Amino acid sequence: MSLGLHAIENAGRDEIVALQTERLRWTLNHVYRNVPCYKAKFDAAGVHPGDFKALADLAQFPFTTKQDLRDNYPYNMFAVPREKVVRIHASSGTTGKPTVVGYTQNDINTWADLIARSIYASGGRPGDIVHVAYGYGLFTGGLGAHYGAEKLGCTVIPMSGGQTEKQVQLICDFKPNIIMVTPSYMLNIADEFRRQGIDPRSTALRIGIHGAEPWTDAMRGEIEAAFGIDAIDIYGLSEVIGPGVANECAESKDGPVIWEDHFYPEIIDPITGEVLPEGSQGELVFTSLTKEAMPVIRYRTRDLTRLLPPTSRSMRRIGKITGRSDDMLIIRGVNVFPTQIEELILKQPKLSPHYLIEVSRDGHLDTMKVDVELKAEFQFASGAAKEFVAHDLQHHIKSYIGISARIEIVEQGGVERSVGKARRVIDKRPK
Ligand code: DLL
Repeated sequence: MSLGLHAIENAGRDEIVALQTERLRWTLNHVYRNVPCYKAKFDAAGVHPGDFKALADLAQFPFTTKQDLRDNYPYNMFAVPREKVVRIHASSGTTGKPTVVGYTQNDINTWADLIARSIYASGGRPGDIVHVAYGYGLFTGGLGAHYGAEKLGCTVIPMSGGQTEKQVQLICDFKPNIIMVTPSYMLNIADEFRRQGIDPRSTALRIGIHGAEPWTDAMRGEIEAAFGIDAIDIYGLSEVIGPGVANECAESKDGPVIWEDHFYPEIIDPITGEVLPEGSQGELVFTSLTKEAMPVIRYRTRDLTRLLPPTSRSMRRIGKITGRSDDMLIIRGVNVFPTQIEELILKQPKLSPHYLIEVSRDGHLDTMKVDVELKAEFQFASGAAKEFVAHDLQHHIKSYIGISARIEIVEQGGVERSVGKARRVIDKRPK
């Protein structure tokens, strides 16, 4: 692959569709022959890879869920002999065993190419210095970013997550141009800069490539203002490959472009499973097109978003992920996502993006409390000023979302900081 734009990124739609069709046919045959779980599911649904003639036929095939991966723990979803698998990653679920994924050498090469493509789309170029603060280890973030940055021809600093003081030191001394890190940890690093009396705008950083958790455009604004950089959205999930399933383009910043030559997206109704018309909001589903070791057929991501038409590339984009269907809180019958609260918090100029939502039950009634910190420059605000801010946020939550929330303005550092994916909700309601 060349180090600049790949020809397929600007190919005609016909060419992309032809490639997807050919690759899908290969994938369906590959899993049917080599993965007992897929053969059993296809047989039960009465479909055969031979029934697939055009992309729309994919809708006849059954979905794959996290439960399928759990049922086949650890290696039974692999479509190649274990000896051909050169790397394992795993994501820890909230309950029980982790979800295991595997890669052949070709898969690792594809993944690195896609991350290289993603960094390029973000505005990175060969020769740039890339500071990777995604966690290294079983999580796909660190190593995924690392191999791709090397492939693009960058100098990689494999810092991993945590040790926030040292993050600041290395950013100052090693002068990276690009940082790859979760958006919540990026803000945590900004606070550490200020704590050390260093202006976060004074670094050599030009670009932040942020993902692994939902974040709003308001949060993008906070990060860009704090560091004076372009903050770009990278999307992915372990089951599909890791980071680099989709990445935003620096020139348009209008939602991550799905690398459609490797992943085929659908949006479905999360309740009925029906494929929704282009542009509808629903659950994102992916089928891998080139993966050898662990292909996925119609994998239900639980992420809620919509498909958007191509802009800077010939491939479709996803809108900002509003949340996961399993992150949705139902409070007194009202559906609410943490990102909705985040947006309202960041509309209030004195509030910081550090917040935690606590849901509990009082008798038969659900109650919601939001702990939020003031921005550092307002931390010594008077009691009356704090009360005003809290009241203002409470009013917005009531009028935009319809929930009465109790707002607590907590002291600096009162909200636990993440070094990776932030925890936004504590649900104390009895199950
Ligand atoms: O988080 C892979 C990744 C690493 C992506 C680094 C980007 C950067 P998992 O741990 O399997 O993999 O978690 C995947 O994280 O289904 C989404 O719910 C969420 N997610 C990932 N990227 C974004 C994003 C990695 N840009 C889950 N916006 C996904 C919103 C995201 N949510």
